[in-house]
Amino acid sequence: MKQLDAQDIRNMKGREKISCLTVYNAPVARALDAAGLPLLLVGDSVGTTELGYSSTIPVTLDDMVRHTAAVVRGVSHALVLADMPFMSYQESPVQALRSAGRLLQETGCGAVKLEGGEFRAPTIRTLVQNGIPVCAHIGLTPQSHAQLGYRVQGRGDAAAAQLLADARAVADAGAFAVVLECIPADLAKAVTESVTIPTIGIGAGPHCDGQVLVLHDILGMGGAIHPRFAKCYVDLAAQIQTAAETYKSEVLSGTYPGPEHQYT
Ligand code: KIV
Repeated sequence: MKQLDAQDIRNMKGREKISCLTVYNAPVARALDAAGLPLLLVGDSVGTTELGYSSTIPVTLDDMVRHTAAVVRGVSHALVLADMPFMSYQESPVQALRSAGRLLQETGCGAVKLEGGEFRAPTIRTLVQNGIPVCAHIGLTPQSHAQLGYRVQGRGDAAAAQLLADARAVADAGAFAVVLECIPADLAKAVTESVTIPTIGIGAGPHCDGQVLVLHDILGMGGAIHPRFAKCYVDLAAQIQTAAETYKSEVLSGTYPGPEHQYT
């Protein structure tokens, strides 16, 4: 199968819904790629899902380079999209260009994602003009949680109008797609109908052009906080615990290792 690029994802709008999951390492990337997902996001959610932080703020560009490179090594079909972490692009378009350049050069990923709407358009334009495909991220932007909280965005006429303006601005700046996080479903529908690039929703209802979820949430590995929009498809935490308990009891009883696990 052909390796997908940002244009392929953009061209899926109106043709086929886009399914995306986050992923942080090579073996899981291999499984998700084999499942046929067209888009894999190495999210800065790696900070909370894998590194034990309470937010994405401590995640560094070096963290993203390491995890993105691992994911790329496991993928042969999907477009790998790498998140730009906090303070790797906020200073200036030039800083963003350097950081995004590192992600592309050192990992082989196909595109980068950054948070922000209308005010971030100049940065998006700079990256795109320099040949770097960009996915924007608006609505609830976790890197601004200290300012916005983790709550639904775009409620009320003024906030909804700003969100529509944000979506149009990032599309005009050349983004190939836009993530809409935690906004009312009707507003996501209006945004989806008003831009020519795909909208990829997370907690944004069924009318988006695609959906993205954090892998650990769908696998039952997300810990105590489970967002309402995240459907859990398997309780892997419970299965891992059962496997570990069985292993421990077999070691204690001497059932493991059996004859088939020994060398002669
Ligand atoms: O980092 C991440 O997992 C994300 C998703 C919430 C879209 O940006």
